[in-house]
Amino acid sequence: MSPTLIVGNWKMNLGVRESYDLARQIAPACEGLQKTSVWVAPSCLSVPAVAKVFRDSAVEVGSQNVHWEDRGAYTGEISPTQLREVGGSFALVGHSERRSVCDESIELCARRALGAIRAGIKVIFCIGETRGQRESGQTEQTLTAQLLPFLANVQPSHQPAVIVAYEPVWAIGTGLVASEVEIEESHALIASLCQRYLGDSTTPILYGGSVSPANFEDILRCRGVHGVLVGGASLSATKLTELIAISEGHG
Ligand code: PGA
Repeated sequence: MSPTLIVGNWKMNLGVRESYDLARQIAPACEGLQKTSVWVAPSCLSVPAVAKVFRDSAVEVGSQNVHWEDRGAYTGEISPTQLREVGGSFALVGHSERRSVCDESIELCARRALGAIRAGIKVIFCIGETRGQRESGQTEQTLTAQLLPFLANVQPSHQPAVIVAYEPVWAIGTGLVASEVEIEESHALIASLCQRYLGDSTTPILYGGSVSPANFEDILRCRGVHGVLVGGASLSATKLTELIAISEGHG
């Protein structure tokens, strides 16, 4: 069985020094894990410092967004090769805060993800419905529309670099967690799309949205959950360490 993947998304919460300190605090808990992989996504300015902490460990460090080109006149962007140069191996793409706050379109997110994968960066492609979309019965349609422009264009050889994160927008940072049925239905849909377009049933599918030590065990028990994308709780060394211990003790 593949290890459970715990990905910390530190968003724009920590400075470089604070990110380095948090990385140093969690590093001991990330040693010698049997059932768990830990990845962290600090803000991009902190990637080099955090990557240095985890240089000789299994922890992977990534960015919270990425551009599709290697270089060029793209003010304010970070390229996949720049990310690799400072020790990054993966990127989040299409996080709901990028889609809603920064107006990133479905097509733009797909473009970012496809370019990054071509350049050797693993992509955690984030999708999720709003409360309104769920209440009006549009969850399946929304998730499919967000995922397809990406999935349908991944080359078969790049399939191992694809990870999908299901994050209901209404569960992010709110303390609300999707129910077991909601998680299992969405993960089953994503798995079937991965099977259809990538010809593969091993694509890791993460759940995200108010994951904490209090609910992690229940989330891990949901069918089709291969890991979690954690925001708020990943900013606390204590909570992140607890999540790791729960994963190690699970199953
Ligand atoms: P949260 O954030 O755990 O604070 O809800 C998750 C995310 O935005 O990835």
